[in-house]
Amino acid sequence: MTARPIILDVDTGVDDALAIAYAVRSPEIEVLGLTTNFGNITVEEAARNSLIVLEKLGRADVPVYQGSAQPLSRTKDEYPRHIHGEHGLGGAPLSKPSASKEEKNAVDFIIEQVRRLKKELTLVFVGPLTNLAHAVQKDPEIADLVGRVVIMGGAARHRGNVSAYAEANIHSDPEAADVVFRSGLPITMVGLDVTMKTLLPMSQMPVWREKDASLGGFFADMTEFYIRFYESAYPGIGGCGLHDPLAIGAVVKPELLETEPMHLVVELAGEELARTREVPGEKPNIDVCVKVDADGFLKHFLGRVI
Ligand code: BDR
Ligand code: CA
Repeated sequence: MTARPIILDVDTGVDDALAIAYAVRSPEIEVLGLTTNFGNITVEEAARNSLIVLEKLGRADVPVYQGSAQPLSRTKDEYPRHIHGEHGLGGAPLSKPSASKEEKNAVDFIIEQVRRLKKELTLVFVGPLTNLAHAVQKDPEIADLVGRVVIMGGAARHRGNVSAYAEANIHSDPEAADVVFRSGLPITMVGLDVTMKTLLPMSQMPVWREKDASLGGFFADMTEFYIRFYESAYPGIGGCGLHDPLAIGAVVKPELLETEPMHLVVELAGEELARTREVPGEKPNIDVCVKVDADGFLKHFLGRVI
């Protein structure tokens, strides 16, 4: 089996960290690099957290490219620290990473690798779509060159998690999502329709601690914080949404998901701001994940991540 090259774009955050672990531990893919975006935390914090997580995983060889600090046309100065913790990795202790981020900008790295690998390359975005929007604006031809783009974001038929309509990654930069949705890129959307069904329960935390005191302990400290947020926001839910890991699942185990082609547009104003709205009858622009084998995914994810 030859591993499929991917670039993983993150705003490292708790579930981003779990997605990084799942990605670097999946033999079906080779992570060429992590690119970082603002979102759950600032872009500098996202790069730092990515370096910390890679080091914990023994994969400090994976390069980290810093990208966008701000949305395309808005100002972002607040971050959801009550969800992902003060520094973005929940209750895990913060350390200084030994490796450094790369000099090259994330947007240039994405363009360079799409031009080099073309259809072979898969891009996975699990934060706001700012880096990708900049990349297609700078080099529109990459939309036809790249193999596939998998995004965690949006909600086609499910309610939002920031408002009744909006999902957090799209809401953090709706104009970027609009550019991406109109670009002609071959997109698979892993949105709240499926990620709110793949829940990681608190009962897994002692299992991780027992299995590997160092990495398991780090991931449990990190994730317990996130699960506590879910339990307070959605009483009785029984775990946190494995949003970003499911985007990796869509690449390494696509048979766990069912997709439907849809035409989606992004609302850019009003009370439905950042809604990813289906327009029936228009030519489909996105393969939207509508069903997931949640038990099968959880088993696969847990079998790899620690
Ligand atoms: C998405 O928002 C972020 O908080 C998570 O990391 C995930 O990418 C879920 O809506
Ligand atoms: Ca994320």
